[in-house]
Amino acid sequence: MNFETLEIEEKNGTGFIYFKREDKLNTLTVQMVDEILQALNDMENHCKSVIVGGKDNFSAGADVFQFSNIAPEEAYEFHRKLNKLALYFREYPRPVISFLNGYVLGGGLEISLSTDIRICSRSAVLGQPEIALGINAGAGGNVILPSITGRNRALYMILTGEKISAKTAYEFGLVDILADNAVGKAIETAELINSMPEKAVTLAKRAVNNSANNDIVKNLDYEAALFGILFSEKETKDRINNFIDRKIK
Ligand code: COA
Repeated sequence: MNFETLEIEEKNGTGFIYFKREDKLNTLTVQMVDEILQALNDMENHCKSVIVGGKDNFSAGADVFQFSNIAPEEAYEFHRKLNKLALYFREYPRPVISFLNGYVLGGGLEISLSTDIRICSRSAVLGQPEIALGINAGAGGNVILPSITGRNRALYMILTGEKISAKTAYEFGLVDILADNAVGKAIETAELINSMPEKAVTLAKRAVNNSANNDIVKNLDYEAALFGILFSEKETKDRINNFIDRKIK
């Protein structure tokens, strides 16, 4: 299958999903999320593990241009689409490894939070900048991030919108491995896992998922509802339109 926003490869039992909107910092559109879902589905039965990421950037978050004058219900539906991807990563029967280069912001960071292993380039920049646009995290930043970093560090990131370095992200527990060559390390990790007994790998992931917060589906939907509500605020609309105006001038 041909994708417009992705490049797909399969090698030595590993499926690769490379994001290909580099000129837009791999910002997430509905089309791109649909294509990632489709690519994962295509690989599910024959790849032993999947690697996702972008050559220069993982993703600078949701494509803000999509938010111009959308209704709260549409914002809710967009969030639910990202939730679907986050939940698919989590429930996927194969390990999903993300490699994080460049900007890893907003929805980009959030979808990475649902991958199983995050390998981060030492020069990557991570953050939840949505607050400055008058919106909240759009794919689990309020649900999954606190479960990883603890409540206070998550609130620091969410409320200030500050971008943090890879080193700080590692200290926060937000990324698992720092590497000079993140994709190289991701491949090495996938090949090691691929050499393990397949059934044991699948059941280990299932057992870990089962021990994690079982309210995650409900909590992601609640976050999506709050996200939608913010789109009825004048300040949200003003801030989104300001961002768009600055970018198209
Ligand atoms: N939505 C849509 N387009 C975006 C975008 C976003 N979130 N982030 C970047 N882009 C686009 C820019 O419009 C620009 O496109 P152009 O070349 O057609 O003008 C391109 O990506 C490069 O971005 P630019 O801002 O020129 O790069 P930079 O290196 O100066 O700054 C960032 C990079 C990430 C700091 C800056 O783009 C930014 O702050 N983006 C918003 C991040 C954000 O708020 N994410 C959460 C969204 S909910």
